[in-house]
Amino acid sequence: MSTQRDYIQQNKDRFLNELFELLRIPSVSADPKFAPDVQRTAEAVKTSLLAAGADHAEIIPTPGHPIVYGEKRMGDNLPTVLVYGHYDVQPPDPLELWTSPPFEPVIRKTDKHPDGAIFARGSCDDKGQMYMHVKALEVMLKTGTLPCNVKFMIEGEEEVGSANLGDFLRAHKEKLKADVILISDTSIIANDTPSIDVGLRGLSYMEVEVTGPNRDLHSGVYGGAVANPVNILCKMIAALHDENNRVTIPGFYDNVTELTADERAELNRAPFDVEEYKRDLDIADIHGEKGYTTIERTGVRPTLDVNGIWGGYTGEGAKTVLPSKAFAKISMRLVPNQTSKEISDKFAAHFNNLAPAGVKVKVSYHHGGEPVVVSTHSAAYRAASAAMEEAYGKKPIPTRGGGSIPIVALFKSVLGLDSILFGFGLDSDALHSPNEHYGVFNYLKGIETIPLFYKNYVNEGK
Ligand code: BES
Ligand code: MN
Ligand code: MN
Repeated sequence: MSTQRDYIQQNKDRFLNELFELLRIPSVSADPKFAPDVQRTAEAVKTSLLAAGADHAEIIPTPGHPIVYGEKRMGDNLPTVLVYGHYDVQPPDPLELWTSPPFEPVIRKTDKHPDGAIFARGSCDDKGQMYMHVKALEVMLKTGTLPCNVKFMIEGEEEVGSANLGDFLRAHKEKLKADVILISDTSIIANDTPSIDVGLRGLSYMEVEVTGPNRDLHSGVYGGAVANPVNILCKMIAALHDENNRVTIPGFYDNVTELTADERAELNRAPFDVEEYKRDLDIADIHGEKGYTTIERTGVRPTLDVNGIWGGYTGEGAKTVLPSKAFAKISMRLVPNQTSKEISDKFAAHFNNLAPAGVKVKVSYHHGGEPVVVSTHSAAYRAASAAMEEAYGKKPIPTRGGGSIPIVALFKSVLGLDSILFGFGLDSDALHSPNEHYGVFNYLKGIETIPLFYKNYVNEGK
């Protein structure tokens, strides 16, 4: 029987081609026009689980996009790993900025990926990373090395807030019974610097509407005498940060867990090259909350960002108009001990207060999620750390991820389960951006490392 590594080597072209097939289906969850493609992707994931050797796989409908569930049982007395991932992707826009079409995967070399990277929407986030687990299952089954039970729960609404997943967890507690959750949907520091995220930020996502006059007006006839909602909205948004780039919402920082000096020193020990960071993003300088490093700003500090802003005339040429309405989508990243409800409420109260009498403001809430911290002292963390050390030849550094995976907090509160954030992508892989890509090295390394986690996790419990 061949070893896991040999099996991966012998099958790597097929592993890539199968992922390419999945990447060709545009499973954009945000846009209803792609609903049939989202469904088709769910079917492809189900088929792939069965092909990899799962005993059972099914598509479970939700009020939104379906969830793919699958399992392979090895014995009643063995531990169970529940793999979570998502097969939906972000919209590919703006299309004109892609070098190759987003749903026609191709491999190209990059500075960070000299062995080539797969360019396609979802290649890293999260089809490529999710599919590593399907292939790792195949590798373990074909080499006779799967040491425990495995369940898969792959959803199709992560990129739109996982609105139906909480109910799904509550309704299927028995089916989802497991010992640990394993997720590859985060990043490592670099291909020669493995790391494991031990935190995710929470999220409060808001939309605001500012209304001035009851209709669009001639800006010469009325301009200067009536509040222009676009002018006002810009002013209100500008007022949300102070001169130190701190968020001005009263009470915003009240519950934030401050790190001790030791914890800060530890966090900042992770390698980070600010010059390379600036070069990658083509920015002359970094920017953020005074008194904190970039690692802290993205990992352990809460933030507020405008995700989109619109209103008035944005078409060809010029139109002199004083618009009736202005809009913005604004999200806040949360850290432990803030809660999504608390921060959304504080935002709404403050935003209403900022408005002058000449406009009406409507604040609505899109979705949210709670922050999480993962213990480095669990058997599962030790197993993950040892697996990466074995595969990369270096002990992974525990890091705090800046992104959010709202379901992770619910895994804990609803199922009582801890998650291991076993990501293999790079932050620079252009997730959510044009030209998203995923290293061929990262894909194959992930497939190699995942079985080592299983081996170590089962051994840890012995
Ligand atoms: N995989 C990301 C989250 C992520 C990326 C965590 C990199 C850590 C490092 C996930 O698909 C994502 O994009 N989540 C959304 C949240 C959601 C509610 C839309 C996010 O973070 O914006
Ligand atoms: Mn993701
Ligand atoms: Mn994402």
